[in-house]
Parts: sequence; C-alpha cells; structure tokens
Amino acid sequence: MDLKDRTVMITGASRGIGAAAARAFAEAGARLALVARSADAVADLAGEIGQQAVAIPCDVARYWEFEQAVRNCVTAHGGLDVLVNNAGVIEPISHMADTDPEAWGEVIDINLKGVFHGMHAALPVMLEAGGGTVLTIGSGAAHGPVEGWSHYCASKAGALMLTRMADKEYRERGIRALSLSPGTVATQMQRDIKASGINPVSKLDWSDHIPPEWVAKALVWMCGAEADGHLGGEISLRDEAIRTKLGLS
Ligand SMILES: NC(=O)c1ccc[n+]([C@@H]2O[C@H](COP(=O)([O-])OP(=O)(O)OC[C@H]3O[C@@H](n4cnc5c(N)ncnc54)[C@H](OP(=O)(O)O)[C@@H]3O)[C@@H](O)[C@H]2O)c1
Repeated sequence: MDLKDRTVMITGASRGIGAAAARAFAEAGARLALVARSADAVADLAGEIGQQAVAIPCDVARYWEFEQAVRNCVTAHGGLDVLVNNAGVIEPISHMADTDPEAWGEVIDINLKGVFHGMHAALPVMLEAGGGTVLTIGSGAAHGPVEGWSHYCASKAGALMLTRMADKEYRERGIRALSLSPGTVATQMQRDIKASGINPVSKLDWSDHIPPEWVAKALVWMCGAEADGHLGGEISLRDEAIRTKLGLS
C-alpha cells in the first residue's frame, strides 16, 4: 500500500495498537499526526519516525481538544485523509452494581464520545477535500455481554453504530467508514484485563493474543479499495479469510 502524500491521524498513538499503526503507516509513506494524552510518549514516537510525523497531545474525551488537534494536523500537513479512532480504555472493570458511575461515564466519554468527536471534527475537512477514510477500532464486546465490562461493551456497540452512521450519511460524498475488530491483542489493555481476574478473557494465556503489528497491517490495508466491500461494517481479524488475505496466518 502506497500512502505517500496522504495524512493519517491516529488516536491512542502513545503505545499498543496505536503506536504499531503509526509505524506501519509511516512505512507506507503516510504523513502522520500522533494523538494521545501522554505528550512525551507521542513526541518520542514522532521523533523516532522522523519529519513525516507530528505529535499532538490531546484528550479525545474533550471535544475542543480534538477539534484543535485536527486544526493542528491540517496546519502541519495541509489536510487529513485518514482518521484512525483507536484511543480506548477498559478500566474500571467491575460489576454494574459495584462500579463508580463517574468512572463508568469516563469510559463512555473516551470510547464512544471520543469516536464521535473525531468524526465530527474530521468530516468537514475530509468532505471539503472530496473524501476520506475513518477507521475505528471495534471489539467483539460490541456484539455480546462480557462480565465486568458493561461500560466497554456499551461503548463499543455505540462506536460500531457511529461507523454505520458515518457510512449511511456520508458514503455518497466520498467517506469510507469501517470498523476493525482485532480479537485479543498483546498490549497494556490485556495486562489490565488479566489483573482484574474477572471473566474468561482475563484467564487467557499471553500467547493467545495477536501482536499489535497484525492490527496495524490490517488498518493500512483498510485504506485501499480492496476493503471497499466492508464499508459501513466491521472487519474481524479472527476471520481466517481476512488473515490469509493479509498474509497473517
Ligand atoms: N488489546 C486488545 O485485546 C483489544 C481488543 C479489542 C479492541 N481493542 C481496542 O484497541 C484500541 C487500542 O487499545 P490497546 O490494546 O492498544 O490499549 P493500550 O495499550 O492500553 O493503549 C490505549 C491507547 O489509548 C490512549 N488513550 C486512552 N485514553 C485516551 C484519551 N482520553 N485521549 C487520547 N488517547 C487516549 C492511550 O494513551 P494515553 O494514556 O497516553 O492517552 C493509549 O495510547 C482500544 O480502542 C481498545 O478498546 C483492544
């Protein structure tokens, strides 16, 4: 995939899937805007990647910060072609009656409202340019209840609907909106899940998880026309046919 002259903004780029995606998109030649709350971590990654990357500290839960991040990206690179809505959290893992409502809501602010914030801020820039791609990291948790994850399941179900909404409202104007459900991935999030000891996902062996580089490869592939059959829907990296297509089996 040649993404030369394309600008990609990745949220949650300070580690895990987001950082792996940044390296994969850089390899494909894209200009990058790396977004996360940890300013030092995104600055370090931008430094590693080189001149084609800028670091933009931003909390996706705060719309005004996300809007400014998109403006800064356009100033630095001249546009925005691909938004990767990857930022996400899973703590606090707990049963519904025990959880702190404030903390529950903060997960919704990041995992669900953060995705809407990204779409709301990026769509006008993309529409003015004649189109763009909005990729959102989904989860199997969007499709069924998982013990201790009421906030996470609800947020991922809502985020999938936002992908479907973006497709419904903007496909005809050149917007490609897709979700990627990666399966379980060896990142800090899985360490948090393991530490909780709640539900079967926390009992998985570390070797059961795929590396974040696989998810990154899929995200780059999703920017191309080969993925157009999935517009408005979700690609699953558990799907053997997709893994084979991407050379990941
Ligand atoms: N790991 C898995 O098994 C798995 C499975 C399915 C889906 N996912 C999804 O994949 C995405 C990435 O997760 P990961 O596994 O790479 O987890 P991770 O290693 O914990 O990384 C999460 C990233 O999100 C960023 N982030 C969190 N809150 C943010 C906020 N308010 N504003 C901006 N950035 C924020 C974090 O950076 P800062 O803390 O610096 O802000 C970090 O870069 C998430 O959406 C997650 O739900 C993961």
